[in-house]
Parts: sequence; C-alpha cells; structure tokens
Amino acid sequence: MTSADSIQLRVSRYRPDTDAGPHWQEYEVPLRKEWTVLDGLNHVKNEVDTTLSFRWSCRMGICGSCGMNIEGEPKLTCATFLSDYAPGPVTIEPLANFPVIRDLVVDLSDFMAKLPRVKPWIIGAEDHSQVEPDVEFLQTPGQLDAYRQFSMCINCMLCYAACPVYGLDPEFIGPAAIALAERYDLDSRDHGTSQRLDVLGAHDGVWACTFVGECTKVCPKHVDPASAIQRYKLKTALHTVKAFLLPRGAR
Ligand code: SF4
Ligand code: FES
Repeated sequence: MTSADSIQLRVSRYRPDTDAGPHWQEYEVPLRKEWTVLDGLNHVKNEVDTTLSFRWSCRMGICGSCGMNIEGEPKLTCATFLSDYAPGPVTIEPLANFPVIRDLVVDLSDFMAKLPRVKPWIIGAEDHSQVEPDVEFLQTPGQLDAYRQFSMCINCMLCYAACPVYGLDPEFIGPAAIALAERYDLDSRDHGTSQRLDVLGAHDGVWACTFVGECTKVCPKHVDPASAIQRYKLKTALHTVKAFLLPRGAR
C-alpha cells in the first residue's frame, strides 16, 4: 500500500478498568474516496485489531450512535469522509464531556436520565371529556412545519460534546433535551408547556446556557438547539413576569 493509497488513523484507546489513562494507537487504513471514518474504523476492527471498541449501527446518519471527536470536532463518523483529512493522520477520540466506557464508547446515561425530565412526548389536555375515543388529532402541513426542525434530532450527542457549558457544569440539562422540549411545545396537539417550563426555568435549565452556539454549529441534522434555548429563555421570562403581575386565573 503506497502512502497515497492509505491514511493513518490515530485512535484514542482506553480501558478504564486496566489503563492509567488514554493513549494513542496508530493504524494505517486504505484511503478510498467513498470511505468514511467509520469505514476506516471497521477496517481496523475486521482486519487488524478486533479489540478496538466503538458504536455504530445504520451507517446513514439516522441512528445517532457513531458520534466521535474527529480532529477535535464532534462528528458522525458515518457521514465524515476520510479523504477530507488526507494526507492525515486523522485523530479519533471519544465524544468529549462524557465518561469513557472503553476506547471510543462513551456513557450516555446522564442524558438518558435528563431526557424524561422535559417530558418529550405529547401531553394531552387535562379535560378529555370532550374527546371521542376514536377521534383523530389531525394537523395541517403548517402545524407540522412549526416543529419539524426540532423533530429531526437523532440523539447523537454531538451538541453535548461541543458545549463548553455542559463541559464545565454537567448539571446543565443540555441542548438536545431543550430542543426536544421545544419540539413538543410547538406541537398543536400538546398541552405540556407549563410542565416543561417548571423544569427548564430551574437553575440547571435554559439559564445555564451562555449562548456560545457551538451546539447548532455541530448538529448534523440542522436542529438548531441554540435557537430552542433562546426561545425557551423568552418563554420562561414571560412566564415569570405573568406569574408576578397577573392573578392566578389570568396567567
Ligand atoms: S440536537 Fe443535533 S447534535 Fe444534538 S443530539 Fe440532536 S441531532 Fe445530535
Ligand atoms: S451509524 Fe447511524 S448515524 Fe452513523
């Protein structure tokens, strides 16, 4: 294999149960124009070193499982071409801001614990007495468009890896959770905004964000979590003002 036909992957290896810390390991893989970084890692796994650990599933930017830091930037490895980094080497690390389970696999349990707090599902009206059991909750294309952007999230966690606020304060509920809260708030069938405001108006909610905007820059699905956070700041501020000025029944 000539150097023009290959590229070096510089991969972070780490087994927390046996290693004192992460270390680099280099692998030479074929440089083909149609190969992604994930293809390079799979070549290593299949042909060179079966002990290398990483997550992936769909290979088409849908499942959200193959996120890693490539040359320091959070990316979906199945949507990032090796040729963009020629002649190399290409550094591959686990997503920043998450504990490492092994090599390139990170522990996402913090996000999994936070996500249900924003109730990312449709919350119906409290009074169901007017609703027939077999009624359909139809939406117009315009109503769908209102939240479509925020519904594209694939939970890839690139935005958490890019967020310096989350890096400094892991209590921050984080960009994707807030974007998903906004997705349901904007749904014409949902009545759960006030419940989500209670969570996102707290100290670890939207006000922890200093509007760095990296979450939106790295999002592979153009979800724009930064705008969801700013919209929520406005909502929580208005909610607080109304609670202060208006009698309970008029809020
Ligand atoms: S908002 Fe974007 S970057 Fe964040 S988890 Fe969802 S798809 Fe990934
Ligand atoms: S493997 Fe599914 S998004 Fe990359």
